[in-house]
Amino acid sequence: MAGPLELTEAGTGAPLVLLHAFPLVPDMWAPQVEALSSRWRVVTPFLDFTRHPSMEAMADAVAELVRGLDAGPVVVGGLSMGGYVTMALLGRHPELVRAAVLADTRDGPDSDEVRERRTRQQAQVAAEGTTPVVEAMAEALPGPTTKRERPEVVAHVRELMSRVAPEWVIAALEAMKVRTGSTGVLAASAVPVLVVVGDEDTVSPPGVARDMAAAAPSGRLAVVAGAGHLSNLENPVAFNAELEAFLS
Ligand code: MLT
Repeated sequence: MAGPLELTEAGTGAPLVLLHAFPLVPDMWAPQVEALSSRWRVVTPFLDFTRHPSMEAMADAVAELVRGLDAGPVVVGGLSMGGYVTMALLGRHPELVRAAVLADTRDGPDSDEVRERRTRQQAQVAAEGTTPVVEAMAEALPGPTTKRERPEVVAHVRELMSRVAPEWVIAALEAMKVRTGSTGVLAASAVPVLVVVGDEDTVSPPGVARDMAAAAPSGRLAVVAGAGHLSNLENPVAFNAELEAFLS
C-alpha cells in the first residue's frame, strides 16, 4: 500500500485541490492560497511519485484524497505535470471532479525527443544530484518578461525547485516519460474546464491550450499576459482573476 498523499490545506469552504508542477512543490500555489482561502478550502498535496510511480497511480491517490475530503465532487486544478494528473483523474474518476483547471499543460504524450531528454536528465540527477536540472528548469520555464522585469520570481522558482529530492525527480521524470497522455479525455468531459496558459509559455504553448479548450464541450481558454510556463507564479494577479471568474 503506497499510502495517502501528504498535503497542506488552508481556508474553509468548498474544497479546491491544486496539483503542482515539476520539479516544484505545493508551495508554488502560495499566491492562489492567499487569494482564495477566505472562500475556499485549498488543498495542495505533494505528488510523491516515489510512492505512486505513474500518472494513473497518482490519479488514484488523488481520488483517495478527494474521497477523504467527504465533500462530493470537487474542483481540481493542476499546472503542467499537475495537469497531467488532473486529466488522468478526470479520465479515471470523473465522478469526483466538479470542474477542472488545466494550466500550462498538454493532453498528449511526450515526443521521442522529450523522452530522450528526460532519460538524460535522470542519468544526470543520479550522477550529480538535482542542481544541474534545477538550474536548467529555472531558466527554461519562466518567460522572458518575468526574467527581465521580475528576477525575484525566478529566484523564488529556483528556491522551490531546490527542495525536491533526487529520487523524487527521477521518479517524476519516469512517470511523465511513460505516460500515454489523456487525448480524448477532454472531449468526453462533462464538467466545466478552464484552460489557462501564459502567452510566453514555450513548454506547453498557447496553441496547445487553445486546442484543449476547444476539445472540451464546456471548455474556456484564458491567456495570461507576460507569463511563461509558470503562469500562476509569474502573473498571479491575472491568473487569480481568471481562476476566480471561473470558480464563481
Ligand atoms: C512541469 O512544469 O510540470 C514540467 O515542465 C512538465 C514537463 O516536463 O512535461
